[in-house]
Amino acid sequence: MPSLFDEFQLKDLTLPNRIVMGPMTRAKATPEGVPTPVMALHYAQRASAGLIITEGTWPDRRGQGYFDIPGIATQEQEDAWRLVTDAVHARGGRIFLQSEHTGRVGHEVNNGGLQMVSSSTTPADAMIFTRENGYSPMTTNLHELTTAETWDLIEDYHRAAVRTKAAGFDGIELHGASGYLPHQFLSDETNQRTDEFGGTPYKRTEFMVQVLRRLIDAWGTSHRIAVKISPNIRFNGIAENEVAETYSILLDRLNELDLAYVAFQTPESLRSLANQPNEEIVDGEIWHRFPYEFVRERYNGTVIASGDLTKELAQKALDAGKADLFVFGRAYMSNPDLVERMQNDWPLTPTDMRRSYGGAEEGYTDYPTWEEQNAAELVPSGA
Ligand SMILES: Cc1cc2nc3c(=O)[nH]c(=O)nc-3n(C[C@H](O)[C@H](O)[C@H](O)COP(=O)(O)O)c2cc1C
Repeated sequence: MPSLFDEFQLKDLTLPNRIVMGPMTRAKATPEGVPTPVMALHYAQRASAGLIITEGTWPDRRGQGYFDIPGIATQEQEDAWRLVTDAVHARGGRIFLQSEHTGRVGHEVNNGGLQMVSSSTTPADAMIFTRENGYSPMTTNLHELTTAETWDLIEDYHRAAVRTKAAGFDGIELHGASGYLPHQFLSDETNQRTDEFGGTPYKRTEFMVQVLRRLIDAWGTSHRIAVKISPNIRFNGIAENEVAETYSILLDRLNELDLAYVAFQTPESLRSLANQPNEEIVDGEIWHRFPYEFVRERYNGTVIASGDLTKELAQKALDAGKADLFVFGRAYMSNPDLVERMQNDWPLTPTDMRRSYGGAEEGYTDYPTWEEQNAAELVPSGA
């Protein structure tokens, strides 16, 4: 039986275990989207993960839905990311960048005043946190990308991918989930286009596929390019009909691309993140449900599952052949040595979700490893 703690061959990249630190936006960059040194320390502390995926990082400033999130569109950003990748590699880790264009999700007060763009002009019926006004409705001032502008934006992803490689990353995960731009193209509710990017389920998959093609061109191989999807999720105002049809076509097309992996986010997990009641989870039995089987049946390559996993659930899903690699999100915020803790059955430090976004070290780089925690407890008080 394979174990979570066995090596895994992700194409040409050897992962020491099957545990993935999931992408987590933490808003620790400068207002201009430059990664800060504290981010290098945070990721390096978590280098024993089989694979680290960074927080969502914008390839083009219009796609910066939240304030203080990083980009990879300028030389300064690329150089600052180099400190992160060097720090992770120095500790023996592996790190993919998550390329995230938020499309209609966000507000122009968060991105320096640029008009936000989407597949169509339907605004997201959802709230966003802004520095100026706290929680407020997402922008309604949307620009529908013309066909030519859509191709230009695909080139923005390509340019960012060239920088990602130059910054020393091991690969890229395209964020195609959670209601962001590629997902807006996929959904029939947010894509009312009649050009080559809309009108049928196949054409709605075109944007994501074309972006992936250009990421592959930038890297020179498809084996370091991946994508995250979230079929049927209701998050950031996204809703989808024709889910099975659209995602069947998409997964067929992803098979042809021979990517590093496809990651998926379960619908349940984001509801639990948003503290909404989730009556569909019975005794934590989520692994056998959509989209686990849906993705596994249609996709031939490596599958990463994410959402509400524990060591036990992940191992069960692995035993049942439902997925290959497993994302841990919130547990990674407060347990830099999550792999060692799970492997040795050491207790996990609970996560203080009040420290999710913004600030500096507190709740970010100050969570101890199990060994540090115990060493501290051995020091006599007053010492
Ligand atoms: C603070 C926070 C920020 C997140 N930001 C992102 C993100 O930038 N990109 C992404 O794909 N998922 C993001 N997620 C989702 C996580 O990657 C993960 O899939 C989710 O937390 C479910 O895993 P968990 O139940 O182990 O926390 C975020 C989650 C949290 C808690």
